[in-house]
Amino acid sequence: MSAARRMMVAGNWKMNGNTASMTELQAMMDGVGDTPAVDVLICPPFPLIGRFSGASEGRGIGIGAQDCHFNKSGAHTGDVSAALLADVGAKAVIVGHSERRADHTEVDDLVQAKAQAALDAGLTAIVCVGETEAERDAGEAEAVVLAQLSGSLPASGVEHVVVAYEPVWAIGTGRVPSIEDITTMHAAIRRAVVDHYGDAGNGVRLLYGGSVKPGNAAEIFAIEDVDGGLIGGASLKADDFLGIVNAGIAQV
Ligand code: 13P
Repeated sequence: MSAARRMMVAGNWKMNGNTASMTELQAMMDGVGDTPAVDVLICPPFPLIGRFSGASEGRGIGIGAQDCHFNKSGAHTGDVSAALLADVGAKAVIVGHSERRADHTEVDDLVQAKAQAALDAGLTAIVCVGETEAERDAGEAEAVVLAQLSGSLPASGVEHVVVAYEPVWAIGTGRVPSIEDITTMHAAIRRAVVDHYGDAGNGVRLLYGGSVKPGNAAEIFAIEDVDGGLIGGASLKADDFLGIVNAGIAQV
C-alpha cells in the first residue's frame, strides 16, 4: 500500500446471497464500524442493492454493483443502467470482471463504455483485468493485462477509477501468485495507468483479487502498489471478510 492512496476492500458476492443475507451485512457493518480507515464495499446481486443501500446509509460499508449497461436507459431487456444503480444508492460498479468477459463475451470496448457510463452516473468504476493460466504459462501475462487496460480504461474521470488485477486462474481456486509476481504485475499496471492518465494515475487504486483470505491478506496488502483487494468467496461471511478488512486497516 501507499500512504497517498486510501485502501479499499471490496466484496464481490457474485451470484450469491438472498434477502436473509441482510444478517451477514449487518454483522459486517457492526464489525467495520461507521468510520473505517479504509473504504469498504459490498457488491451483491442487483435485486439486493436497494435494500442493502438503505440499510447501510450512514454506516461504514458502501454498496456497489457487479455490472451495468453502457446506455442510460432504453430497450435493453434484462440490463440495468448505471443511473438506476446510483438512484437506488449504489456507490460503485465492477466492470469487465473475467466471469463477465467469459460468460457474456464482454470485450475491452464494451468494458470501457460501461466504465464511462458508471463515471457519468457519479459511480466509482472498478475496472477488472487479468490473464488466464494459459496466457501466464505462455509468458504473456503482462502483455495481456496491459492490452486489457489500454482498451478498458475510460479516457477521463480518473479520480473515480479503480483497477482490479484478478488473474483468472487464481479466482476461486485457492491459488495465489507469488508476492513477487503480484509486485511485478502491479508495478506494470501502475506504469500503464500513469501513461494513460498522466500524474493523476498515481492516485488510482490498484486492487488485487483472486483467493484473498484472512490468512494471506496482510502480505498481499503490504505490497507497494496494492491498494486493497477485490474479494469473492471470503466476502460472503462476516468473519472472513472482517479479517480481510482488518488486514487492510493494519496497513494504514
Ligand atoms: P475469490 O476471492 O473467490 O477467488 O474471487 C475473486 C473475485 O473474482 C473477486 O471479483
